[in-house]
Amino acid sequence: MTVAEKIGQLVQSDASYGYPPDYLGDAIRAGQLGAVLNTSNVAHVNELQRIAMEESRLSIPLLVGRDVIHGFATVAPIPLGQAATWNPHLVQAGARAAALEACCTGINWTFAPMIDITRDPRWGRIAESFGEDPLLASRLGVAMVRGFQTDDPMQPTAIAACAKHFAAYGATEGGRDYSATQVPENELRNVHLRPFQAAVDAGVLSLMTSFSDVDGVPATANAFLLRSILREEWQFAGLVVSDWQSVQQLQTHGLTASDAESAAEAITAGVDIEMAGTCYQTHLAELLTAGAIDPQRLDAAVANVLRVKCRLGLFDSARYRITDRTRGDVTAGDETAKALAQQSCVLLKHTAGVLPLSATAINTLGVLGPLADAPYQQLGTWIFDGDVERSVTPLESLRELAAGQFEVKYERALMHSRSKDTSQFEQALAVAQQSDAVLLFLGEESILSGEAHSRANIDLPGAQVELVAAVRAIGKPVVAVILAGRPLTLANVLEHVDAVLFCWHPGTFAGPAITELLFGAAVPSGKLPVTFPRVVGQIPIFYNHKNTGRPPSADTVAHIDSLDSRAPQTSLGMSAYYLDAGFEPQFPFGFGLSYATLRYHDLRLSQSELMPGDELQVSVRITNDSEYDCEEVAQLYIRDVAANVTRPVRELKDFSRVRVPAGQTVDVSLALHTDDLGFFGRHNRWMVEAGAFELWVGADSNATLGDRFTLQVPPDASTLSTDR
Ligand code: GLC
Repeated sequence: MTVAEKIGQLVQSDASYGYPPDYLGDAIRAGQLGAVLNTSNVAHVNELQRIAMEESRLSIPLLVGRDVIHGFATVAPIPLGQAATWNPHLVQAGARAAALEACCTGINWTFAPMIDITRDPRWGRIAESFGEDPLLASRLGVAMVRGFQTDDPMQPTAIAACAKHFAAYGATEGGRDYSATQVPENELRNVHLRPFQAAVDAGVLSLMTSFSDVDGVPATANAFLLRSILREEWQFAGLVVSDWQSVQQLQTHGLTASDAESAAEAITAGVDIEMAGTCYQTHLAELLTAGAIDPQRLDAAVANVLRVKCRLGLFDSARYRITDRTRGDVTAGDETAKALAQQSCVLLKHTAGVLPLSATAINTLGVLGPLADAPYQQLGTWIFDGDVERSVTPLESLRELAAGQFEVKYERALMHSRSKDTSQFEQALAVAQQSDAVLLFLGEESILSGEAHSRANIDLPGAQVELVAAVRAIGKPVVAVILAGRPLTLANVLEHVDAVLFCWHPGTFAGPAITELLFGAAVPSGKLPVTFPRVVGQIPIFYNHKNTGRPPSADTVAHIDSLDSRAPQTSLGMSAYYLDAGFEPQFPFGFGLSYATLRYHDLRLSQSELMPGDELQVSVRITNDSEYDCEEVAQLYIRDVAANVTRPVRELKDFSRVRVPAGQTVDVSLALHTDDLGFFGRHNRWMVEAGAFELWVGADSNATLGDRFTLQVPPDASTLSTDR
C-alpha cells in the first residue's frame, strides 16, 4: 500500500449529499477513502462499493456506517426505554431485527450501542443510554453487540457494532452536552469503563471516542484510554473511530494549535478512523515525512481497519454488493419492537382500581394531550431511517379497541409539548366532563432529548402541568401516560392524577403496546434504569452512591417549611440531605409497579462463607396475591461493608425477569461469582477482598429482604488480585 492508500483507509466521509453528482467516487478510485456514513440508499452504496472494488488499485471494500440506534425503518423504544425492560434477550432481538433491515441498504456498520453511564437526566443523550448502572448497561450493551454482529460477523446480515462514546461522556458537567468531564480514575474504572470492557470482551468490532474533555485530555487524543486501557489492558483488536469531527475539535478544546497537530495527537493516541473531518487526509502524509508521527502507528491503524473489514467478510463480493433487495418482510421486526415497547413502560403510580380500564365499564373515554396522536414524536431521537408512516399512535389503537364498545372523545389541548397556548383547554375540559375516565398523553417532543438537547428544567414543558391541574378539577379518574426521552420531575403531576404510565419514546408500536397495558391485555413490567429526582436540584442523584461519613436516615425529616427559625445549628440532624428536598428521589432505580400484588420471601443463600472462585446461589420466592398474571424483574444487590476504597451503598449484581402467574408462588434463582465482588482499589489495583457483604433481593434498589455473607481469602493474602 502507498502512504496515500494507507491514509485513505483512515478516512470516513459523509455520503449524505447523494449521488450523482458524486464527489466521493474520485477519492474512492484513488484509494483515498475507506469508509462513508449517512447514506442508506442501496443503489448509492452499491455504486460506491463497485468503484472501490472494480476501479481502485487495491479493491478494498468500504465500511458503510449509520446510526442504527434503536431500530431502522421499524423503530423500537429509545435505548433508555429498552433498558427499562431489563430484558437482554429482547434487546438482542431488537438489534438483530434492526440489522436485518439496515443491511439490505448496504449498511455494514452501526454506531451503537451507546453505553455511557449517566446520572444526569438534564443531559439529552440519556435517551440513548441504558441509564445509571454499570451491570445493566453491560448486559444490555453486550446484547445489542450480539444482535448486530451475531456470533459470525461474516454472515451477510451481520453489521459491525460500535461501543460508544469512549469514555465517560455521561459525566458531562452540568448535564450539558459536550461539556468537560472530571472523573477520577478510580470512578472511571469502577463505573464508566465497565460496560465498555464487557463489550470488548463480547467481541465488539469498533469503539467511538467521545467528544469529551476527559480530565484535561479530550478522549479523541487520550492515549491513556485508547492505548493503555483499550489496547494494552483489554487487548482490543478492533478499530477506533473518532466522533463527528472530534479530531478537528481538539483545537477548539484548546489542546492543539492546528489541524496538523490534531491529526498527530489523534493518530498517536490511537484513533484509527477520522469521522467526517479532514485532518488525516490533509496532514498525515506530511507529518509522516517530517517524522512527527510513528509510521508503525499508521500501519497499526490501517491493520485495525482492514482486520475489521476481513472480520465482516467484506472482501467477499457477495458481502459487499447488496442487490437492491427490497426489505423483504418489513414487518419481520414488528413483534419485537412492540414487545420492547410494552415491556419498557413503567407504572409509576397506581391508585387501586383505576387500571386496568374496562372496555365494558366505560361509555366514554376522554383522550387528551399533545402526545396522544404524534406519530413522529413517539419515535424518539436518532431515527434517521424511521418510517413515520408505520407509526401506530395511542389514539389510533384506542379508537380501534373502542369500536362498537365505547366512545373515544379526543382533544389535543396543546399543539405540541412546549406550547403555552391554553386556548384549547376549554374543549379539552368539556371532553373530560363528558367522559367516564380521562387519559392524558403528556411528555416531551422527541427534539427535546438526544444529542445537544439538554434541559436545565426537567418538568413537563409548556402548559402541560396547568392542563393536568385543570383536568383534575373536573373530578374524573385521570391516568397520565407520559412519553419522554429522559426522567422528568413529576411532583407537580403526581398529586393531580390517579395513575402514571411512563413510556419513554416507545417507537413505532406505541399505540398497541400502551393500549394493551391500559386495558389489561398485558400488565406493566418495566423497571426504572435510572433514578427520578424530586427536583432538578437533587441531581446527580443515583442509587449506587457512596455512604459518606454522615448519611441521612429515615429520621432526617426536617423540612424547610417546618423549621423553627431559632433552631440551634446542630438540631436538625447533621447529615447529607437538602432542607427543601430531603435525600430520597421521587422514584428509585429499579422501581416499577404492576397490577399484580407481589411478595418476596424465603430468601436463601447457598452458603454464607465464600472462598475465591465460589459462585453464590441465591434463591427467593415471589408470591402473586392478585388475579393478574405478570412478569417481574427480581433484582439482587450487595454492599461491600468495608473495603480498600469506599464502595457504593448498593450495587446491582444480578437480575432475572420471571413470569409470576396469578395466585401462584415461583422460585427465582440468582447468582453471583466472587469475581463479581471485585473492584479497583487504591492505586487502581483490581482486587477481590476478604470481608463482610450485605445482600438484598427485591423489586427495586430499596429492597429490604436481606442477608449477609463473607468472603474469605487464602490466609497468606488479605486480598486476591486477579487479572482483569
Ligand atoms: C454524532 C454522535 C455520534 C454519532 C455520530 C455519527 O455527533 O455523537 O453518537 O454516531 O455523530 O452520526
